Amino acid sequence: MAKGFTFLSETDTEVIVHLLEYYDKGNVKNAVMKTVSRLEGSYALGVICTDTPGKLYAVKEASPLILGVGAGESFFASDVTALVAYTKNAIYLDDGEFAELTPENITVFDRAGRKIEKIVTPVTWDIEAAEKGGYEHFMLKEIMEQPAAVRAAIEPRLRDGEVTIPELTLTDEELAGINKITITACGSAYYAGCAAKYALQALTGLPVETALASELRYSEPIIDSHTLLIAISQSGETADTIAAIKECKGRDARVLAIVNVVGSTIAKIADMTMYTYAGPEIAVATTKGYTTQLAALFMLAVAVGKRLGRADGEKCAALTGEIARLPRLIQNTIDMNHRIKALAKKYAASKSLFFIGRNTDWASALEGALKMKEISYIHAESYAAGELKHGTIALIEEGTPVIAVSCNERLFDKTASNIIEVKARGAKVLAIAVAGNRKIVSQADDVIYIPAVDTLFTPILAVIPMQLLAYYVAKENGCDIDKPKNLAKSVTVE
Ligand code: F6R
Repeated sequence: MAKGFTFLSETDTEVIVHLLEYYDKGNVKNAVMKTVSRLEGSYALGVICTDTPGKLYAVKEASPLILGVGAGESFFASDVTALVAYTKNAIYLDDGEFAELTPENITVFDRAGRKIEKIVTPVTWDIEAAEKGGYEHFMLKEIMEQPAAVRAAIEPRLRDGEVTIPELTLTDEELAGINKITITACGSAYYAGCAAKYALQALTGLPVETALASELRYSEPIIDSHTLLIAISQSGETADTIAAIKECKGRDARVLAIVNVVGSTIAKIADMTMYTYAGPEIAVATTKGYTTQLAALFMLAVAVGKRLGRADGEKCAALTGEIARLPRLIQNTIDMNHRIKALAKKYAASKSLFFIGRNTDWASALEGALKMKEISYIHAESYAAGELKHGTIALIEEGTPVIAVSCNERLFDKTASNIIEVKARGAKVLAIAVAGNRKIVSQADDVIYIPAVDTLFTPILAVIPMQLLAYYVAKENGCDIDKPKNLAKSVTVE
């Protein structure tokens, strides 16, 4: 401002534009270099100058930016799904690098302005995957794609009836030296970690802790070279998850990332990366991203348990058989779509919904509540069912909808007593239970059954009716399902 620039907004982006103008002495490339040398924080910029209309500059720091090489055209985007309609040839820029784009050419430079060679990576996603394909919303399409997406996550890792995770490159000695698993992520990816924690703990015999990435990074964590850090992220670009990984790497943790987007930042900074192969996920609310994360985590649990010799061989074989069945069981669950669509009408006018469950079911309830609130804007809370009487039950009154996830057979009676508690206070209960559980019918107002599967893996099925319920409730209420308000698909800022 002291140099005579007039600001029209209070955005940091505008500061960058003025800075560019300030440094532009007829050479845009130099102006870009000088400008970014003064920037702090994360950004991905596309710069065009009216004096050189045929040229674009692209530069990034800690935010995603991907270049597309076309025939007589060049592109840049923050997400590869935006490119697939135009080109399948991508260049992934690294931090501090910047590119000069003309229709014919893309030249990449390092921070000091020296030309560098970059590899052109083929994009395996196709255009159909990034289009709605007859569905009204991407979210519904992605829910329906889950059997195929989970199959894609599982198949490359099933060999002769055994789970193999080639990405887990720790030697037997290194694996034996691991004394703790820490799972970190944000949002739904974190809930995937919460749900899979039980399988990991049961099969590896190791203590497994889950930590929100935004908390872990500031918690002075007790993490060292004997910790296996599992970082989960669909986009691979979530700022807090990246920061948590860096914090733990600084403490010598071994980092295994579970990521969907190939070439993303998290995939690059982790020591080992397992891709989930879910294909592009366009709807802001994750569905197939979440279930493929669960599939990857369940396989990891079996593989690590087996390699450590802590999981019984027969049990591992049985669980591997269960994993192979998951795509079909997911399809069977999705086939209840019409029932859930009808039920959604009952819940669409609710002011507030409660999701309860214990153990694995609690993790599913957390994800179910998140789905409901983010796309329908209905207040939804999730509680460990046993916690209700410690306070929350005060909120239950005549007609309050409660979604009770009760798929964990061992705890069925315990959750049943919580259902009775809320019913006694007037709640209307929709239960999600495992096929064959007849007792639940007398306790709940409505029941949705998921197919029987090993209890450790029930979250991958239990979440599906809740995804559909959230979808149809949001649709009933005319919400912008694929792009809910206030939310972005990749959260690249803290
Ligand atoms: C919810 C949702 C978010 C993400 C979270 C992490 O439907 O999509 O909660 O799960 O922002 O994103 P990723 O997995 O990209 O790190």
